[in-house]
Amino acid sequence: MNVGIAGTGRMGAAIATRLLGQGHAVTVWNRSPAKAAPLVAAGAKAADSPAALVAAAEAIITILTDAAAIDAAYSGPSGLLAGDVTGKLFIEMSTVRPEAERALAEKVRAKGAALVECPVGGTVGPAKEGKLFGFAGASDADFARAKPLLGEMCRRVEHVGPVGAGASMKLAINLPLLVYYQALGEALSLARPLGLEPARVMDIFADTSGAPAMLKNRAPSIATQLAGGSVPPTVDVDNIRKDLRTMIDEGRSLGVALPVASRALECYDRAAGDGLGGADCTKLPAYWAERGGRAKDR
Ligand SMILES: NC(=O)c1ccc[n+]([C@@H]2O[C@H](COP(=O)([O-])OP(=O)(O)OC[C@H]3O[C@@H](n4cnc5c(N)ncnc54)[C@H](OP(=O)(O)O)[C@@H]3O)[C@@H](O)[C@H]2O)c1
Repeated sequence: MNVGIAGTGRMGAAIATRLLGQGHAVTVWNRSPAKAAPLVAAGAKAADSPAALVAAAEAIITILTDAAAIDAAYSGPSGLLAGDVTGKLFIEMSTVRPEAERALAEKVRAKGAALVECPVGGTVGPAKEGKLFGFAGASDADFARAKPLLGEMCRRVEHVGPVGAGASMKLAINLPLLVYYQALGEALSLARPLGLEPARVMDIFADTSGAPAMLKNRAPSIATQLAGGSVPPTVDVDNIRKDLRTMIDEGRSLGVALPVASRALECYDRAAGDGLGGADCTKLPAYWAERGGRAKDR
């Protein structure tokens, strides 16, 4: 299939790699062209503009930072919706509020195309292996059209309702996970006086009933951070702050209080204020155990 991918950041590049490996003809566009270059070297074609990308593809995947990025990529004279998009299938995978996906779907439908939203759980590694968990929002007919391609990107896809439902589900599933990083940092600040080796401490945490599935993969990275090392970012602290802000905004619009998520965001804002915005999420518990939890005013 001719697939276009707009946004070759960490996730978009991993998905492009997966779809190239599955034998698709992949065309890519990224605002900063340098990030698309390794994919071109791996066999993808580069499009000069979002509109040119759409002209070359039957299905167009977008996975971008936030709602402003979606607006920038889809709108404008050379945006994804600028040309003739009749009959095209757009698959929007960014983590944003449901209202952003619903507003986009209206614009896409008005141009005679279809939109399936499918934000995902899982990070760069699972994306490269086609093992994401997709939360799809779409009409039944549009979902049926997107399902084969989604099945190549995801180990499991749940069609949870019309456009907007996928975003609601994605925000919901991320909340306990993101709060957990802070809870783990606080727990580690209690265990720290024992002076145990970080790898051993994380191995113990990962083997207990309080551990989320995430720790099975990320415990070694957290141990590395506790030992003073660093790991390349897969999900950075700024991205987590964006997700928490999105959840809190959504909760507010629903009249639902999210006090734990709100407090976690304040703690992560402090981490970003201490220069950790671009650090991998596994730095957060180590930061709190070592520094964040020690300052008098925290
Ligand atoms: N990382 C993960 O593990 C993970 C997992 C699940 C879901 N997600 C979600 O997936 C989305 C992408 O995450 P990521 O980790 O791939 O982020 P990333 O590496 O920071 O990539 C963000 C992408 O958005 C583009 N972008 C940002 N602002 C733009 C604008 N105004 N106009 C056009 N393009 C713009 C960036 O282009 P430039 O390169 O030009 O900046 C880049 O292609 C986010 O919504 C995130 O919450 C991420």
